[in-house]
Amino acid sequence: MKVIVVKSDVEGGKEGYNVFAEEKKNGAKTFGLATGSTPVTTYKEIVASDLDFTDSVSVNLDEYVGMSADNEQSYNYFMKSHLFDYKPFKTSYLPNGLAEDSDAEVKRYDKVIDDNPIDLQILGIGRNGHIGFNEPGTPRDITTHKVPLTQSTIDANARFFEHEEDVPKFAYSMGLASIMKSKHILLEAFGEDKADAVKGMIEGPDTVDLPASILQNHPNVTVIIDEAAASKL
Ligand code: GLP
Repeated sequence: MKVIVVKSDVEGGKEGYNVFAEEKKNGAKTFGLATGSTPVTTYKEIVASDLDFTDSVSVNLDEYVGMSADNEQSYNYFMKSHLFDYKPFKTSYLPNGLAEDSDAEVKRYDKVIDDNPIDLQILGIGRNGHIGFNEPGTPRDITTHKVPLTQSTIDANARFFEHEEDVPKFAYSMGLASIMKSKHILLEAFGEDKADAVKGMIEGPDTVDLPASILQNHPNVTVIIDEAAASKL
């Protein structure tokens, strides 16, 4: 893993942007994208830049089950308001939160990932070490799946909702095996509440109890963290 320690999430956004720009220059066509507060500074830098994605494809990590794309809490809406409205892609894929048949939706999304091999995948990390919505204990050979969210993730997401009972209880997520197929993985983490997860991810042990530790087995991972997230290394 290549670990870059920065002073702040703003500086991290500039480093994250550099990774996108470099990959694009090297011919990357398919970008795996993430939501959450972490990638926001990177998306801001991309929006402010002259990078053009109209010949690129994006594939998002996850979406809440039961949410329409125009619901302001959906990941679809998040991507539009933080990136796609300013930097449109040729095609953007996200799981369909309103799919009637979840087995069919999971299969459809696996095919999307197979048909569009990801050149660069950006990831945040949960406080319990989850990536995407692959919570602790998730088998490593899993591809796209419908996930019941853990109480810790529901609690962490509650700040975005008016009432805690409005927080979705399920999501569709790319699996750990899907994420590991990406050619280059960029994981960002900012803030002290990520320090334990970052330590586990980088220093091990390599265990299903801390899903991000699987990245120790990937040949091309760039980690961008601020000093607070790096404080336990
Ligand atoms: C959610 C998302 C993850 C994200 C994590 C951390 O659970 N599914 O993709 O990495 O939260 O979120 P944040 O970046 O807001 O700390």
